Amino acid sequence: MSMARLGYRVALIDADIGLRNLDLLLGLENRVMYTAMEVLEGECRMEQALIRDKRWRTLALLPISKNRARYNVTKNNMQTLIKVLKEMEFQYIIIDCPAGIDVGFINAIACADSAVIVTTPEITAIRDADRVAGLLEANGVYDVKLLVNRVRADMIKKNDMMSVKDVQEMLGVPLLGAIPEDTEVIVSTNRGEPLVLKKKLTLAGIAYENAARRISGKSDFLIDLDKPKKGLFQRVGEFFAGDE
Ligand SMILES: Nc1ncnc2c1ncn2[C@@H]1O[C@H](COP(=O)(O)OP(=O)(O)OP(=O)(O)O)[C@@H](O)[C@H]1O
Ligand SMILES: [Mg+2]
Repeated sequence: MSMARLGYRVALIDADIGLRNLDLLLGLENRVMYTAMEVLEGECRMEQALIRDKRWRTLALLPISKNRARYNVTKNNMQTLIKVLKEMEFQYIIIDCPAGIDVGFINAIACADSAVIVTTPEITAIRDADRVAGLLEANGVYDVKLLVNRVRADMIKKNDMMSVKDVQEMLGVPLLGAIPEDTEVIVSTNRGEPLVLKKKLTLAGIAYENAARRISGKSDFLIDLDKPKKGLFQRVGEFFAGDE
């Protein structure tokens, strides 16, 4: 959503086939009529399967399948879908991959030019992220960046949580951004209202918008979640709120 807000035409592919949930997160679940499966089987056109977000028209969601785990999307399937989306002039095609390192993940990344690894600052998640980094490299995806989610400055201060820098150094992947733990994320996911559409952005909302700016190549400052400076966050928040 933040990428679309920057003016890019963005297609989101929910490649988490068994456990699709992007439609819910975006509040678009009632609009799923056709999916990528019908496109691949020639039963509908891509345009019919794409759900255009009415709140931000440059964003479109492609659900993969309505029927959980009934289908397996092959590498060829993925290639076909992405080729069609590119021809429709989407500037960013974002693929939400399934967790894990099995064939579903490998097929999902088959056409990727770059990747964002999302991890939390926990040792188990970091080990998983490290495996994912290895798999990406082994599959020819070399442009990889790291997004550390659910960061808590208060815990870092008390030495109860690894700092963003620690996580980044352990993984050796360049940092795209850090997102603080924020109860508003849970509220917004439950409501299907993207966090970054709120009039007054919370810190997590600002952090997502900044990460999107950096993906698009704009050099932007990194919010330092290890040493929060209240004044700066407030100023940035007001800046974005006034930007609507
Ligand atoms: N920054 C955050 N602050 C608070 N809660 C969060 C934050 N990020 C995510 N969550 C909560 O964690 C839940 C799971 O997050 P998310 O769906 O992004 O995880 P995931 O890694 O994609 O999971 P899966 O592997 O099942 O796809 C979200 O529904 C949300 O409620
Ligand atoms: Mg997910």
